[in-house]
Amino acid sequence: MPHPNTPRPKKQSQSVRTPSNLIFGRTQQKHQSSRTGKRTVMKFTDSPVIELPVRNSLISLQQDNGSMHVGTSVWPCSLVLVKFIDRWAPPTPNPIDPNPYSQLLDFRNKRGIELGAGCGAGGMGFYLLGLTDLVLTDIAPVMPALKHNLKRNKPVLSKTLKHSILYWNNLDQINSLKPPFHYVIAADVVYIEETVGPLVSTMDALMADDGVVLLGYQLRDPEADKLFWELCDKTFDIEKVPHEDLHPDYAYEETSVYVFRKKKKKEES
Ligand SMILES: C[S@@+](CC[C@H](N)C(=O)[O-])C[C@H]1O[C@@H](n2cnc3c(N)ncnc32)[C@H](O)[C@@H]1O
Repeated sequence: MPHPNTPRPKKQSQSVRTPSNLIFGRTQQKHQSSRTGKRTVMKFTDSPVIELPVRNSLISLQQDNGSMHVGTSVWPCSLVLVKFIDRWAPPTPNPIDPNPYSQLLDFRNKRGIELGAGCGAGGMGFYLLGLTDLVLTDIAPVMPALKHNLKRNKPVLSKTLKHSILYWNNLDQINSLKPPFHYVIAADVVYIEETVGPLVSTMDALMADDGVVLLGYQLRDPEADKLFWELCDKTFDIEKVPHEDLHPDYAYEETSVYVFRKKKKKEES
């Protein structure tokens, strides 16, 4: 029996459910880099295999856009998020052009967790960029796609990354993962209004007091979007990464990267 939290894409969105259709429309697969003004082709299509270069490695993801589960497709926010990190994650000591993200992205001795990992692009990218104590999570029906892609990339990653079933707001599952985590990673996870509350509570429950959520975001559903930002506004301090700081080859108007931190508790009087 499906878990009650299992996402069911809304019927009306079925025909535009595949990632590339959602971003670009059927024929538009190019975008303009706001930083360079250059037109680039996103390496992101309906093709069964998506490749993502990260530093000196190449992640190769096999996706199934025909499945009923959205997690078996690779979604663009995960690529945009990973490439943002790829651009800024240390080590890049350069006194002439200091790195504004070197502290935020100092992964040494930190633990991370990815929510709604899908095929694993996000988690695998973060791992290659130095966040090695990491667990990728998703719902049970998506696990075969995640496991398949982790195995497929074992030669690049040198190991099979940790993965676990986690339905948002399932307290037993949350506790079994032994929070807190310094990094809670999520890409393209806001698209069903009913799952927004559980998602935000889960981020909050998993995150260390001094931790961050790193979120790749694209508007998918107006109601889910509205509720998500209302709840996040109450729960987190929100910072949006300036668009020009995204990776120039993986940036386009629709997708943003956010950093959430826990709201500071008001000092007792
Ligand atoms: C649009 S996909 C994004 C997948 C991946 N992050 C990417 O960017 O390629 C959304 C992911 O969230 C997961 N998800 C949705 N609702 C969930 C829930 N209630 N609990 C756990 N995961 C959920 C889905 O299974 C899916 O893998």
